[in-house]
Amino acid sequence: MKYTVIIPAAGLGSRMGLGFNKVLLEIDGEAVIKRTVRHFENDPDCEAIHLAVRSEEMNVIRDFFKDSSKVAGIHIGGTERQDSIYNALIHVKDTEYVFVHDGARPFLTADVLERLKEKVVTADAVICGVKTKDTLKRVVGGKVKETLVRDEIISVHTPQAFKLDILKQAYHHAKENNLKVTDDSMMVEAAGKEVYLVESTYDNIKITTSEDLQLAHMILKGK
Ligand code: CTP
Ligand code: MG
Repeated sequence: MKYTVIIPAAGLGSRMGLGFNKVLLEIDGEAVIKRTVRHFENDPDCEAIHLAVRSEEMNVIRDFFKDSSKVAGIHIGGTERQDSIYNALIHVKDTEYVFVHDGARPFLTADVLERLKEKVVTADAVICGVKTKDTLKRVVGGKVKETLVRDEIISVHTPQAFKLDILKQAYHHAKENNLKVTDDSMMVEAAGKEVYLVESTYDNIKITTSEDLQLAHMILKGK
């Protein structure tokens, strides 16, 4: 199978508190977004890469990927992650499968990609994730409402893999119904389609807060 990937990188990175977008932060001398994109540059099944970026960062990111034959489009992102992905998705064509992967998740492994590729051929939508190590409870107003069954609870990562027409339909459905989502598969669920799970790795972290940087250095050392 061959696929196109959309990589949203148009956030502000406010929780990192750097004063600039975290995807531009260098870890061990290389920007997070370059590390992330490289996984797809290296995967022969990935045919095209579309990025969503902030207009202020367009030039620097264009420069990062000026020699790439796979980066097919660098689009201006939107206010929310889902707006950024939409702005890229409208340019994706001539592919049966589209993957979405956070620009801020640089430690993806080839094994996870393989599992997604294998599964999406027989499914509309596939996410990856890991079992939560903590017990999770639903708490409202400081009071526990419910303890969730831990074996059934998954921390969801990206990449997420979709049949292109299914993701496009789901985005249109979400727009029409003004749905706010925290991941793309949530739209597909809302559109009434089934979403399957494959295993991710605990290292496939999203760089979100400053603590994640220490973890990132440890993950790099371990590789
Ligand atoms: N993203 C995007 N467009 C937005 C918001 C987020 O493309 N309007 C991207 C980010 O660049 C990141 C991914 O979506 O690669 C995951 O989002 P998140 O971790 O929330 O990143 P930020 O929104 O940048 O961080 P924060 O929420 O702390 O501001
Ligand atoms: Mg955000």
